[in-house]
Amino acid sequence: MCGIVASVGNKPCRHVVLQGLSRLEYRGYDSAGFVCIDQNHPYFSFKKEAGGVAPIQRLIETATFDGVIGMGHTRWATHGVVDEDNAHPHFNCKKNIAVVHNGIVEGHDEIRSQLINQGHTFNSSTDSETIAHLVSSLHSEYNDLHATLVALTTRLKGAYALIFLFEQYPDTLIVVRHRSPMVIGIAEQQMLVASDFLAFSDITKDVIFMPDNTFALITKDTIKLFTFDGAPSSYQVTKVDHTHKPLDKEGFEHYMLKEIYEQKRAIARTINFCKIIGSSVELEGTLHNFSSILQQNDALWRQLGLTKDRIKNLRYINLISAGTSWHASRIAQFFFETICKIPTRVYLASEFRYMSFFDEPNSIYLMVSQSGETADTLEALRLLNSFEQQTIAITNVASSTMVREAHGFMLMQAGPEISVASTKAFSTQISLLYWLAHRIGLERGEVGQEQMHHAEEALMLAAEILETSIENYKFKIVQELAPHYATFDRFIFLGRHISYPFAMEAALKLKEISYIFAQCYPAGELKHGPIALVDEKTPVVIFSVLDELIYHKLVSNANEVKARKGHLIVFAFEGQDELINLADCPFVLPRITPLLAPLAMTGLMQFFVYHITRQLGHSIDKPRNLAKSVTVE
Ligand code: AGP
Repeated sequence: MCGIVASVGNKPCRHVVLQGLSRLEYRGYDSAGFVCIDQNHPYFSFKKEAGGVAPIQRLIETATFDGVIGMGHTRWATHGVVDEDNAHPHFNCKKNIAVVHNGIVEGHDEIRSQLINQGHTFNSSTDSETIAHLVSSLHSEYNDLHATLVALTTRLKGAYALIFLFEQYPDTLIVVRHRSPMVIGIAEQQMLVASDFLAFSDITKDVIFMPDNTFALITKDTIKLFTFDGAPSSYQVTKVDHTHKPLDKEGFEHYMLKEIYEQKRAIARTINFCKIIGSSVELEGTLHNFSSILQQNDALWRQLGLTKDRIKNLRYINLISAGTSWHASRIAQFFFETICKIPTRVYLASEFRYMSFFDEPNSIYLMVSQSGETADTLEALRLLNSFEQQTIAITNVASSTMVREAHGFMLMQAGPEISVASTKAFSTQISLLYWLAHRIGLERGEVGQEQMHHAEEALMLAAEILETSIENYKFKIVQELAPHYATFDRFIFLGRHISYPFAMEAALKLKEISYIFAQCYPAGELKHGPIALVDEKTPVVIFSVLDELIYHKLVSNANEVKARKGHLIVFAFEGQDELINLADCPFVLPRITPLLAPLAMTGLMQFFVYHITRQLGHSIDKPRNLAKSVTVE
């Protein structure tokens, strides 16, 4: 899940490539490298750096050489530690072929052993270096670039987006795509290639999204595309109307904090977008009217690749996702089952692909993903497409691969999320899915017009509580609570019913940015084992619900903790005095419609975790070992 950028033209390319790399930092930031063919002599000049988030910046500042053809790479380590040797580009033994790679080569150990037996010497422990030696060996055998690439793609298994530079072909970028995205940009006397077109979106809007299983030979003014069997392939040039806008923190110390505070507006934008989406009529009048306009209009269903009849006959809803998006999906399961009365299942994308598949008629599959690029979710989508199932991308990125490959899509309006820890994507996913559950319910007659309108209002109220609850506790958290809780080494998180997936999200947030060990359980499971962990050194965080019956069960669980001298932090709602009185640290929020309790608690939970981490002085926006977009399986 690395970032790749390359350029060929008649002007020096270092600046363009390195600037593109800095925009792709979200794909990994362990190390970076740049290689070009020098204007003055036909040999490679290159530089690679390892170590945290700084290498790209150092490359930009210190690389002095340049060339009219070159490529760069930003890495997220999969094979081999983070060091300079393992950084890309990788080379063959003669150092006259360079490669940058995004993806994973399956069975690379076997290929490596064969190549070592043939006399190749390796300098890194990556799977990617194998490709450089393999292509070199095949090129010696075939002495023809086209035949070499056909042979290479037959040998390589896994997922890979590759760019090669050969000193022997100093005017050609050699690009290969298999299951990892690659985009070609066409500019004036210049061609660009990248794993995300944002890398060069200020230079050209004319792009070719390389079809899967193709390779391309690209000079400054020609593109030759081939399928993996070597046959020439046609391509489509698409105009993309999106430019990279440099974002700053607007006075916030971190992007995460800025994004926590953007949630109210992001939710409002998402709901309004949901209401007008696909509507071909001029929208006038009150919010109340929008839903009735939509009811007459099937533009929304068309965008989702559905029909009104299909919605009426829907028997199962499935949600597939990873990480925070999976938590949002688990919360949404309660929406679809309670509001539309449709059995709903939620799968982790990384597990779904290897489970038995049962074809159930009248099912839909919602692929929930902030980035629309997560490899596990994307591969699950492709698998479902191959089974001719109805796939719908629910994502934040209109230009993403999932939007292109799913049968339908719906977009959250969170705006760019820079912090690796997802915040506003989570709250806008919940909002969108809550709205969609009502909209499906409306179409099926489970929900009335008035209820639809109330749902939209309740979402806005939840967004309001999300923000004001931060303000209510801001001073206490910053001054008193965060310094205290930052001294603990481990936490237990508990939730029940709809607050259980929310507790999982809270535990994930704490883990990924503070590196504090956090274990999450459904509260009812406590007595089946985890209660043995309860002691005064392990704070237990309980998230309440607004369902009376389940609330009382949670109170029992809180009593179990207190009876073992546990330290209790509680997120509860006004009037839940029994639970609040048990807490060593209570946070109390205004009441809201029960299904939106998690959304209301989202801002305060994130703010609390953010400030614990800030006390510890970690890199909040770019935590260790992580990348924003997980494009490897
Ligand atoms: C959460 O804070 C994460 N960084 C991570 O779990 C993320 O939600 C996951 O990788 C899925 O990403 P997606 O929503 O872009 O598919």
